[in-house]
Amino acid sequence: MLITFEGIDGAGKSTQIQELVHALSARSIEAVTLREPGGTAVAEKIRQILLESSHEISPIGELLLFSASRAELVQEVIVPALANGKTVILDRFFDSTTAYQGYGRGIDLELLRSIIAISTCGITPDITFYLDLEPEEAMKRKFSKTSIPLAFEGDELDRMERSGLEFYRNVRQGYLDIMHIKSERFVWINALDPVAVIHSRIIALLDERFLQNQSSYDERNAMGTSKSKKERFL
Ligand code: TMP
Repeated sequence: MLITFEGIDGAGKSTQIQELVHALSARSIEAVTLREPGGTAVAEKIRQILLESSHEISPIGELLLFSASRAELVQEVIVPALANGKTVILDRFFDSTTAYQGYGRGIDLELLRSIIAISTCGITPDITFYLDLEPEEAMKRKFSKTSIPLAFEGDELDRMERSGLEFYRNVRQGYLDIMHIKSERFVWINALDPVAVIHSRIIALLDERFLQNQSSYDERNAMGTSKSKKERFL
């Protein structure tokens, strides 16, 4: 099973992923937790290039770097894990590319679709939790202990976070559009709700859709993944 978390920077994905891993572990379900960009030696190096704020990267260069990192992670880690029936929890996947590079940077969505298909080998999440937060609120969280203005600017921010408030408004709009188009797998979550409330909702939804029949689900998933994996690499 592949579970992804999406949302703008500061929405609280990492906290929810941690909570979910603990809850799954209490049920003896060991999850593989990964983040994008990153997750393999090469992908972590690409992450550094992407987030370091000392240089500029063109929008297409940025798209290809995120995609290269994803291709590494998918082929090295995600495909084998799913083929072994593991539960994979992913902090960002290709919806981030649609939201950030498509809506944020303005790259053609058709072009994105083709590149995403190549970098993911066609793998799609079973469920995506989208933590929705207004960019102004995200900045408030980031700078809660300082007096830095709400501008998505400043030395504390990585290269992506320096893209400005307008960029983040477009990214959020991108997520909201994806949510309407992919309503069967996208779950909208109000990131302003308390951590425990969000966590309970996530567990309830997973229970309802998958966890009650975890073992039979994973067996089916493993069989399906290995079968289609062969086709994907042809
Ligand atoms: P994070 O690990 O703190 O979320 O940082 C990753 C940053 O990279 C974040 O700003 C979102 C951005 N990003 C994209 O722009 N496109 C992508 O495809 C992915 C995976 C992340």
